Amino acid sequence: MSKNFYITTPIYYVNDVPHIGHAYTTVAADVIARYNALRGDNAYFLTGTDEHGQKIMRSAEAKGMTAQELADKTVVNFQELWKALGIRNDDFIRTTEKRHEKVVQTIFSRLLEQGDIYKGTYEGLYCVPCETYVPEAQVGEGQTCPDCGRKLEKMTEESYFFRLSKYAEPLLEYYEKNPQAILPRGRYNEIVSFLRGGLMDQSISRTTIRWGVPVPGDDRHVIYVWFDALINYLSALDYPEEGGKWQTFWSVVHHLVGKDIIRFHAVIWPAMLLALGLNPPERVFAHGWWTVEGEKMSKSRGNVVDPFEMVDLYGADAFRYFLLREVPFGADGDFSERALVQRVNSDLANDLGNLLNRTLQMIDRFCGGKIPSLDEVEPLDKEIRNVLEEIVNSLDGHMDLFAFDEALKDLWSLVRRGNKYIDETMPWKLGKEENLPRLNTVMHNLCQVLRTAAILVSPFMPETARKMEEQLGLSGIFEAGKTAFSWDTSIEGASIDKKDVLFPRRDLKEWEEEKAREA
Ligand code: MSP
Repeated sequence: MSKNFYITTPIYYVNDVPHIGHAYTTVAADVIARYNALRGDNAYFLTGTDEHGQKIMRSAEAKGMTAQELADKTVVNFQELWKALGIRNDDFIRTTEKRHEKVVQTIFSRLLEQGDIYKGTYEGLYCVPCETYVPEAQVGEGQTCPDCGRKLEKMTEESYFFRLSKYAEPLLEYYEKNPQAILPRGRYNEIVSFLRGGLMDQSISRTTIRWGVPVPGDDRHVIYVWFDALINYLSALDYPEEGGKWQTFWSVVHHLVGKDIIRFHAVIWPAMLLALGLNPPERVFAHGWWTVEGEKMSKSRGNVVDPFEMVDLYGADAFRYFLLREVPFGADGDFSERALVQRVNSDLANDLGNLLNRTLQMIDRFCGGKIPSLDEVEPLDKEIRNVLEEIVNSLDGHMDLFAFDEALKDLWSLVRRGNKYIDETMPWKLGKEENLPRLNTVMHNLCQVLRTAAILVSPFMPETARKMEEQLGLSGIFEAGKTAFSWDTSIEGASIDKKDVLFPRRDLKEWEEEKAREA
């Protein structure tokens, strides 16, 4: 039975241009959505932008624009990037859209009415750039923010509070029963021990800020940007409308987030959901952060990786592949363009590209350009079939845990086995010796390996997979569902269509010289 599956990225602030960190989460979510669709699930994939709050307001003022103008201008960068990266999101939500603001107010009113939100006074040390009050215990030396190091401001204001304290116990219970609800394990432990310390009610409105959703019936107050932002995951599904998408998709809910925003997603958000009588997310996965050539990425260092540039230089698929293959999802990683070029050369050009190219060349030369039927079978053939069956299973297990690097390692063991099979069977000799029954089997098997590799690689590198299908002369291979991986799938007789190589090799020395000239 097909399963409904909801996958989201954080919604990105529009005061910045998209960088590698944004691309990372969105590519990962896209791969998950595509993989789930491939295995027959009904996947719904949401991304979008976070457009309210002080940070956006200040950025806009500095640029001499209104906040809405800034949002309208910069949102396009994100939308264009997702196109360039081959992202297939089902919806894109902006928090300034009416459909969202309306739901934020509905939820606020409902929680107020049931006593989960109340009015009080808040006094504390506030960090303006981070838009957050800093708890006493975390205030840095000289009253500075523990996150950004900037000076905190003392503030007293009337505020609405969300009764978060009430949810520490129910959340602990939920996480104890669902140890995979927060991944990786280290983050799970961190959140559980945080919950054990108890929770304080959260101030969720501001009288000092104008750029946001007004509190219904009390518009001196604007709803705090995080409370507003988290609700995007529901507003995009038309919550709480009868018959809205939320009734289909608010079941298996997976949120991908960076490690810095895990508490919002694994503490505040699930508490809000419990208050609304909805199930908490089945999984919040916190990925690590990218450094660049060993250094923290920042505008002031001028080392921000521009995903548009990477796509221009190396293609969307190579960049997508690199992001998910290079670093285990959940760990921090280091980006360097050199490492990207090396990966393209070794994994994409040498392993995958070569397997396709060698196979197609031999079909052209020895088989009249058509995929032959299975004929004379040897024990070696059984072994490659087994490898295929094993990796289809183990890859699935890794994908369940979002272990993309492991899934790709599995897939590459099949690709490498394919290349080794060519070396072992030496089809060029069989062609010359006119040992056609054996030659046919070998070429058939190689095409089965390539067909399977194309299907499994398709969530990661959709354009490459499509090219592989086309060059193999096949069609509809990605829609085959459960039977897709069967060796008995009929492919014989397909006319191959050999085109340019998938990934040209870059000479590393030349590449270095080029870079040195540009620098
Ligand atoms: N608007 C909030 C999220 C609200 S979700 C309801 C936000 N936006 S953000 O644009 O600042 O950050 C979005 C994501 O980018 C976060 O998940 C963050 O972890 C991620 N990254 C920012 N820099 C990063 C790296 N250097 N590496 C990897 N991811 C990084 O937070």
